[in-house]
Amino acid sequence: MSDLEELLEKTETIKANSRSELEEVGSLQECEELRVKYLGRNGQVQDLFARLGKLPDESKAKAGKAINQLKSSLKEEIETQKEKFKRKQKEEQLKAEGLDVTLPGRRRGVGKRHVLTQVSDELTSIFQRMGFSLALGPEIESDYYNFEALNIPELHPARDEWDSLYVDDTHLLRTHTSPVQIREMEKQDPPIKIICPGKCYRRDTPDATHYPVFYQVELLWVDEELTLGNLKYIIRSFVEEFFGPEFSMRFRADYFPFTEPSAEVDIQPPDGDDWLEIMGSGMVDPSVLKAVNYDPETHQGFALGLGVDRMAMLKYGIDDIRHFYRNDLRFLKQF
Ligand code: DAH
Repeated sequence: MSDLEELLEKTETIKANSRSELEEVGSLQECEELRVKYLGRNGQVQDLFARLGKLPDESKAKAGKAINQLKSSLKEEIETQKEKFKRKQKEEQLKAEGLDVTLPGRRRGVGKRHVLTQVSDELTSIFQRMGFSLALGPEIESDYYNFEALNIPELHPARDEWDSLYVDDTHLLRTHTSPVQIREMEKQDPPIKIICPGKCYRRDTPDATHYPVFYQVELLWVDEELTLGNLKYIIRSFVEEFFGPEFSMRFRADYFPFTEPSAEVDIQPPDGDDWLEIMGSGMVDPSVLKAVNYDPETHQGFALGLGVDRMAMLKYGIDDIRHFYRNDLRFLKQF
């Protein structure tokens, strides 16, 4: 046998041995040991290269090609085997940590509007569909808009009903959304038909039905020839849409400085005896129209103010207003 033949045969043997040993390998550690044994600096493949050097030049190419092929294929196969063990190790580790990577991903909550915002939007949009357009006003309001222009002069006893939060001598956190009526009437001539949702503030101690911040929706319509009948029709339509046609409603005479006559509106559920108060309303007082240079001889109007918190409490049977402001997700997620 020539040296060349001998080397080629040796190469084949090493190839066969390394292959069968690789099949038996049982761990990452053993893979590495096998790599050192064959491909390491003193490994068997390295030894083949040493022998190659001693061959006559004309034989070198053929043997060299065979050894190089063995080297690169063995390297690749060991690498593949190593990857397999690494993957297995990772899977075992994940399993030990109690992590199942085959489970579907967890959806991230996108959040939703607060229940009071939902109810406020719903109330507002019912009136928008009746042709009222949206108007907003500032939450820090001047004494003039919050009281004066609404026919509540400085010494008027009605001021006592509103425990106000003043920020300086002439400005306060608005106690109701009614000042938006004045601001909007100053901006435009009649007819005017607006709906004004927003936050209000009073110096109230929190209890089941009071909170220092709360929400209202205010409505105003001024035109020629508007009557209490029109107001009643608007409110009846609203009650049917928000609460349902089977609810009864009644007007109960009341007093507000900015409306004359004034009425509280009560509703009665079909299966209940109790009348529940839902809003204040009335025909706009002539002195309010005069304050914005509208002519009370030619124009009349009506207004109403709804407590959003109260509407939400009635709608969902919530017995304590403080739930709305605690921001407990277990409560909020229900709506
Ligand atoms: N602003 C009143 C309040 O906060 C509610 C109200 C009553 C508004 C009668 C009105 C109205 O527009 O006409 O108690």
